[in-house]
Amino acid sequence: MASRGLPRALRLTRVAAPRSVVSAALPRPALAKAAANAIPRVSLPTTAVRGVKNMSFAGHSETVYEREDWPREKLQEFFKNDTLALIGYGSQGHGQGLNLRDQGLNVIVGVRKDGASWKEAVQDGWVPGKNLFDVNTAVEKGTVIMNLLSDAAQSETWPTLKPLITKGKTLYFSHGFSPVFKDLTKVEVPTDVDVILVAPKGSGRTVRTLFREGRGINSSIAVYQDVTGQAKEKAIAMGVAVGSGYLYETTFEKEVYSDLYGERGCLMGGIHGMFLAQYEVLRERGHTPSEAFNETVEEATQSLYPLIGGNGMDWMYAACSTTARRGAIDWSGRFKDNLKPLFNELYDSVRDGSETKRSLEYNSQKDYREKYEKEMQEIRDLEIWRAGKAVRYLPPSREPEINVMLYQGWEKL
Ligand SMILES: NC(=O)c1ccc[n+]([C@@H]2O[C@H](COP(=O)([O-])OP(=O)(O)OC[C@H]3O[C@@H](n4cnc5c(N)ncnc54)[C@H](OP(=O)(O)O)[C@@H]3O)[C@@H](O)[C@H]2O)c1
Repeated sequence: MASRGLPRALRLTRVAAPRSVVSAALPRPALAKAAANAIPRVSLPTTAVRGVKNMSFAGHSETVYEREDWPREKLQEFFKNDTLALIGYGSQGHGQGLNLRDQGLNVIVGVRKDGASWKEAVQDGWVPGKNLFDVNTAVEKGTVIMNLLSDAAQSETWPTLKPLITKGKTLYFSHGFSPVFKDLTKVEVPTDVDVILVAPKGSGRTVRTLFREGRGINSSIAVYQDVTGQAKEKAIAMGVAVGSGYLYETTFEKEVYSDLYGERGCLMGGIHGMFLAQYEVLRERGHTPSEAFNETVEEATQSLYPLIGGNGMDWMYAACSTTARRGAIDWSGRFKDNLKPLFNELYDSVRDGSETKRSLEYNSQKDYREKYEKEMQEIRDLEIWRAGKAVRYLPPSREPEINVMLYQGWEKL
């Protein structure tokens, strides 16, 4: 459809404008109080010693490392004798790889020859034979092996790769999945190499975008095995090198449990389930698709969630009407009480390896990409998301002539 690209661009101009439930009248006492409480959100650094910040998070002291302490020259000096071999060029491979290259570090990419990732790497300027190789060659050449294959592929390729990860090399992951669930993945790390983790808290695309904007993504860092005594410093340096702004210390176990739990819960699965449940009830009670979508997704993502993200839950509550606030406070407890058993069930399923087993089995299938695409199409075809597409085609700033164009394509949405 000719109009497809245009609304995307227009969407960028949208702001989190107050909707029906959000009061635009500022300032008000509740809002002012929320604002005062909102900044700073945490007690600011209490101690700062050569790159280490001890910070209080709601009364719990944690150590945070930051990019400011690792300027580009220092990174280049630290890795001057290293070849960073990044294997796998999915979302993380793309983001981390391009950032490392822009940092002026010696990085090479290893992927299956002539697969989808190989083509993408070539498009991104990696040159076959120079800094783009097949997986095994890259691992042989590298001193820091960044295993960014899919988690299922990490398990599948391990028998071939393990002998190539020789003494003195460093093994790097962006997820604790493979070593933590080694009984299932069979990824038993060599005993004579440092094993570290840098797990960006977001998509590899965001890793790249934030880096290009001069900012950095939050990441977790961890050490699984420290042979040289330098593993932690390497993890911090790698974290900054791939484009992190702040690095939070964790363990491989905590990272993988929280990550698998979060993405199945509030980050993706849980929120999708909640959207669907609310939307379906509205539709079954006679509301139109646009009304059901606006009250379920649009207002949440465009107006209220950014307020939470910006300054916290109290800030969002304070920005809403007293009617909305009263009901939300009353019902939040009931939602929590009803959902908590499910979250416990989910955590157990992560902890006992069920989620890992499911992921390995499903994602090892030859046709896993096609199967996912079928499921994505089923989601795309749900009425809620078709209605959403139509709603998104109507940003407030739309020019009248564009509206005409879009209405003509309406039935195709
Ligand atoms: N995506 C995220 O948001 C995110 C965030 C934090 C951490 N992580 C972690 O980062 C790591 C990489 O994740 P990702 O999302 O970037 O990538 P992904 O989509 O899970 O994996 C894609 C890469 O794996 C390769 N691959 C798949 N099967 C293979 C096989 N049998 N042999 C060789 N290569 C194979 C693909 O190559 P082909 O194109 O040739 O198939 C592609 O380069 C994972 O450990 C993940 O948990 C991801």
